[in-house]
Amino acid sequence: MSDIGVGIVGCGNISTIYMLNMPKFAGLRLVACADARPEAAQAQAAKFGIEALAMDALFARKDIGIVVNLTTPNAHFEVSRAAIEAGKHVFGEKPICVEAAHARTLVEEAGKRGVKIGCAPDTFLGAGGRLAREIVDSGKVGRILSGSCFLMSHGMEHWHPDPEFFFKPGGGPILDMAPYYLSAIVNLLGPVARVRARSSIGFAERLVTSQGPRKGHRIKVETPTTVMALLEFASGADIMFTMSWDVWKHGHPPIELYGTEGSLRVPDPNFFGGTVEYTERGGDWISVDSAARPFGKPNWRSPNWAANMPDRANYRCLGIAELASAAVKGTPHRASGALASHVLDAMHAILESGRTGAAVEVASRIERPATLSDADAASLWRGN
Ligand SMILES: NC(=O)c1ccc[n+]([C@@H]2O[C@H](COP(=O)([O-])OP(=O)(O)OC[C@H]3O[C@@H](n4cnc5c(N)ncnc54)[C@H](O)[C@@H]3O)[C@@H](O)[C@H]2O)c1
Repeated sequence: MSDIGVGIVGCGNISTIYMLNMPKFAGLRLVACADARPEAAQAQAAKFGIEALAMDALFARKDIGIVVNLTTPNAHFEVSRAAIEAGKHVFGEKPICVEAAHARTLVEEAGKRGVKIGCAPDTFLGAGGRLAREIVDSGKVGRILSGSCFLMSHGMEHWHPDPEFFFKPGGGPILDMAPYYLSAIVNLLGPVARVRARSSIGFAERLVTSQGPRKGHRIKVETPTTVMALLEFASGADIMFTMSWDVWKHGHPPIELYGTEGSLRVPDPNFFGGTVEYTERGGDWISVDSAARPFGKPNWRSPNWAANMPDRANYRCLGIAELASAAVKGTPHRASGALASHVLDAMHAILESGRTGAAVEVASRIERPATLSDADAASLWRGN
């Protein structure tokens, strides 16, 4: 089976890990990249031995079957729509786009043209996410009644070279970070039905301290940076959901779920591996490390982390390889536009509820993605 050619649009911060990882995945061949800043595309093309093209030229290339959209969120819709119109499969970074109606348009247009649209996060397909799903589906912890998700930090301006967009409408911890948590729990519990939330801006201004041309620049914060929500799932589970960039330090695990037969701790959904912990009723935590399973082994350390920070499993491109494999087989792909569109609906419901104080219904419904077996996951890895 021949590989599918891939063109990346958006050659900023996150593009490096995609370009580093892609050759290690089966079924994908990185061909070219493009960026609204041609010099950014040229720099990445030179580094990774691929072609730098104008976006239209990339879309016109017959040897490119998948466009990977790594632009900033406000450009996701127009870039993905243009790629779909050019007849390409699309996989984009999260969120799928900013407006919920636009996400529905992308999913519909892709369906009409017979191409696939997929979206990050694909971390739930990693070893930690698959293990958590296996434990939930096995019934070990019973029916999930409730739980909590926490993402709390002090923001992005100390590490991202150009952090402006995080603090403007379309950014914020909900649109930026909630996709990881929501995709992970929707994969475990199914769709969100209704939300209530409160939101606030802890700091009116942010000072950029990361190295680069923006250092010293002050950003006016124009989107909530703390959001506390209560999510009611269609399954009946209630999840406390807190995302904040106003917190210096905390001690909450990323995701805990409480079932009729026990409790479950899901590893940080920003990464692909990690240790899953669960209990049998009130017994001790039973730890299961996912490192020995495909896409669980730590392979990466952020350049922004101190040398003593632990390594993590960062297998970005897994969702693209899974999409490519599904396109060849003619089966549904898992990190899908429909999932990302539902997650975006839930995020907008949270933000609206935070603004109005009223409960907000989430109208869209989706099926949980099919489970991904270790063997099928392993088949997506070409290795070094
Ligand atoms: N940086 C991270 O660690 C990280 C992690 C996970 C996900 N993401 C997601 O990846 C995406 C990109 O983030 P980033 O940090 O790389 O941003 P970035 O600002 O570093 O890079 C974005 C790039 O897209 C280009 N671009 C913007 N609009 C464009 C358009 N219309 N056409 C062509 N190119 C365009 C910009 O010139 C820039 O080079 C976002 O959706 C973000 O949420 C980032």
